Amino acid sequence: MQRILRVVAFAVVGFAVSAGMVHAVTDGSGDPVAVKSDDGKWSDKDGNPTFKIEADGTVDWYTYVGFTRYSAECLRCHGPDGMGSTYAPALIDSMKRLSYTDFYAIVAGGKKDVSASQDLVMPAEGENKNVMCFVDAIYAYLRARGDDAMGRGRPQNHAPKPAFYAKDVEQCMG
Ligand code: HEC
Repeated sequence: MQRILRVVAFAVVGFAVSAGMVHAVTDGSGDPVAVKSDDGKWSDKDGNPTFKIEADGTVDWYTYVGFTRYSAECLRCHGPDGMGSTYAPALIDSMKRLSYTDFYAIVAGGKKDVSASQDLVMPAEGENKNVMCFVDAIYAYLRARGDDAMGRGRPQNHAPKPAFYAKDVEQCMG
């Protein structure tokens, strides 16, 4: 009996270890492969925003916009390139765990870690158009960073601005 239990325990641990390894290379929204483009805005098979990076490193327009918006709105707390600071977590790690829905809810509604010894506050950005009009682009950028699909810094090349981009932004910004 004990011997059987030991075999079972071994199998369970083995499974957990291999599942853990799979998890390390995936992201919180699952497979990030871009399957559909809506005027240059890419989504994965589940309809979540994602990135599209060519073999020569050229990033899609929205991922590029995500980099610039991240740098303007999030970097001061979350550090350059999503790598974290002493105050706020490294979002490149958070992306491995958070789904698009989780991400959206936290950005719009904020988050406060009441158990921490210091007060850690993620501000609710739901009313901030400079964030919310670009939340999918920021997500696509951080997803690419979390999946190691792009390196640090400003992307050197990006796809051209889609035809309706300026109008869409204008409409959202009101
Ligand atoms: C004023 C500082 C500040 C700004 C600006 C800020 N954040 Fe945060 N953010 C935080 C802090 C602090 C936390 C951790 C809160 C906690 O643990 O309760 C956090 C947490 C998060 C989380 C959850 C991370 C996790 O692992 O659960 C996400 C996602 C996030 N921020 C995204 C963003 C994005 C995207 C932006 C820019 C649009 C942004 N934040 C701007 C301070 C900030």
